[in-house]
Amino acid sequence: MDHSAAIDALAAHLRDAQFVCALTGAGISAESGLATFRGPDGLWKGRDPTEVATPEAFAADPRGVWEFYNWRLRQAAKVEPNAGHFALVRLAERVAGFGLVTQNVDRLHQRAGSRDVVELHGNIDEVRCISCPFSETVGRRELPAEPRCPNCGDWLRPCVVWFNELLPPDAVRRAAAWARECDVFISIGTSGLVWPAAQFAYDAKSNGATLVEINLEPTPLTPHADVALHGKCGELLPTVVARLEAL
Ligand code: OAD
Repeated sequence: MDHSAAIDALAAHLRDAQFVCALTGAGISAESGLATFRGPDGLWKGRDPTEVATPEAFAADPRGVWEFYNWRLRQAAKVEPNAGHFALVRLAERVAGFGLVTQNVDRLHQRAGSRDVVELHGNIDEVRCISCPFSETVGRRELPAEPRCPNCGDWLRPCVVWFNELLPPDAVRRAAAWARECDVFISIGTSGLVWPAAQFAYDAKSNGATLVEINLEPTPLTPHADVALHGKCGELLPTVVARLEAL
């Protein structure tokens, strides 16, 4: 698809913006080789999320949940940030103000060089004890099948947000403020089906921001977008940033 005119328009919006907020989802890491959640080969395909991604599942079968997260840690350890992640680092340097909010737990934005990333759903680099205040950064190292707290011996759990859990209040507060205040909001590689993350795009739009969507395919957000670019993030984002840099 020829997006040239839309990319020109977007580059001009970005140049003129005082603050740009980007929200990313699993689609931005797809070209690094990490599966998304809802696609044909998605992580939730053939798997009930409530069996591996809820506090109830962890209480019932911590070993089974850890099997899933250790598998994800192995995947994350194999992959590298891609052109989409790197383009967002360049974008941050080019615009007047920038806030990056992600639903991803893979830490690929940080590894690409993005700073101060708001993680709505936590991350898989850290674990914490379910009983005491112990927490630890384990990086992308796989954990034992039964990871236990060195202080109290109870189970460690990944520092991710599961279904039926609250999002970290500070992350939500910062993302909500950026969504309210931004001039351009870019929704990148997310199906926009999980709340409250999905709400930020609508909040931004109703506060007057230019709403941009970059996704492989249309989503429920598409009819609301002022600019919709459908294709791969790893190709579209570097093109947008290059166009901005050329202005
Ligand atoms: P989804 O799997 O729901 O959606 C991924 C989106 O990325 C889809 O809309 C794809 O079309 C798009 N996509 C895939 N490859 C792409 C590419 N190369 N370039 C551009 N777009 C691409 O993932 P999320 O929206 O991130 O939450 O899912 C949101 C949350 O649901 C996740 O954080 C996770 C999940 O359940 C929790 O685990 C709490």
